[in-house]
Amino acid sequence: ELAEKATFKETVYLMINGRLPNRDELTRFSILLNDHSLVHEDMRSFYESFPRISHPMGILSSMVNALRSFYPELQNLEEEINMTVTRLLSKIRTMAAMSYKISRGHKVVYPRPDLAYCANFLNMMFHSPVRPYEIDEDAVNALRVFWILHADHEQNCSTSAVRLDGSARVNLYAAISAGIAALWGPLHGGANQAVIEMLSDIAEKKNMAHAIERAKDKEDPFRLMGFGHRVYKTYDPRAKIMKKMCDSLLNKLNISDPLLDIAKELEVVARKDDYFVEHNLYPNVDFYSGIVLRAIGIPTSMFTVMFAIGRLPGWIAQWKESLDDPNWKLGRPRQIYTGPPQTQFVPIDKR
Ligand code: CMC
Repeated sequence: ELAEKATFKETVYLMINGRLPNRDELTRFSILLNDHSLVHEDMRSFYESFPRISHPMGILSSMVNALRSFYPELQNLEEEINMTVTRLLSKIRTMAAMSYKISRGHKVVYPRPDLAYCANFLNMMFHSPVRPYEIDEDAVNALRVFWILHADHEQNCSTSAVRLDGSARVNLYAAISAGIAALWGPLHGGANQAVIEMLSDIAEKKNMAHAIERAKDKEDPFRLMGFGHRVYKTYDPRAKIMKKMCDSLLNKLNISDPLLDIAKELEVVARKDDYFVEHNLYPNVDFYSGIVLRAIGIPTSMFTVMFAIGRLPGWIAQWKESLDDPNWKLGRPRQIYTGPPQTQFVPIDKR
């Protein structure tokens, strides 16, 4: 319902506050997000110092952590939490778009107060002094749906990282930075980039059957990216919406993407294969999402950053929930020792 009816900002408010905002609350929230959307100018020199080949997820994780140095802790805890949450939600878009612009050697585009959350991000990504960006409502809508579908997903790897890190009572920036680092992995959020790389490889080498065989081979670490899920042993409901979005968006934008045809064919072939049937492997959220992002012009290296922006409200909500838990404890998974029994230290020349 949210993907169909809500704005991303309303969804963010719901995640953080536990209910949808009324009109006044939404206006106040929008003003706050606008007021905090700029990034400290001194941070720009950090961006410019990363090697050009740096992955945007590494940059984002570092820069989010660095925010604490630029926005030191406030004295009042409640004010500190509200302010940090607002700053993060607002600045993450600006920071993500900045890393893209700087990686291309282009001038940074500042946020605009007259644009809503999704449109503002697209403008910061694609506006240029020589080619003004025209807001495309279909692209804005696709981004809205993409971000809402990623907003939260219980105890996945990155959320658990945020909770465990946060359990030490580190500041929120540090906890979110840990979440971004975990999300980067190709088995988690990095899968959206890996899917497009896999589909491009299949397109180039025309080797779909070979990819399926490799995915089934236990000796080969290759997996069919965008397939399978720890929790869903059925079709990921987010993937259904994403697949529909692919079709309608490409249609509206009049784009024909050969990777969409390959993805659909791969889904049909895999779903008929005994291995995938027996293992309950279905497309997950990442299988079609990259094609949506490509259609709106997002470069592949930025795909997981897009996931991170969408997941941010979920991470914050989970962090807040653990903070408010009266039974909160420092996270400390136990370990069962299975190594050799007691041994003695052997001096180096006797080893
Ligand atoms: N291709 C081939 N075999 C697979 C795949 C796949 N994509 N996914 C699982 N399997 C097999 C796996 O080899 C194992 O086989 P067996 O039992 O015969 O040894 C069995 O299915 C169970 O695998 P698992 O890794 O124990 O299962 P899991 O539920 O922990 O896996 C997963 C979840 C997402 C890590 C896995 O399905 C995978 O690696 N998928 C590809 C990467 C991907 O698309 N990740 C995005 C996940 S959704 C978004 C997110 O969470 O960020």
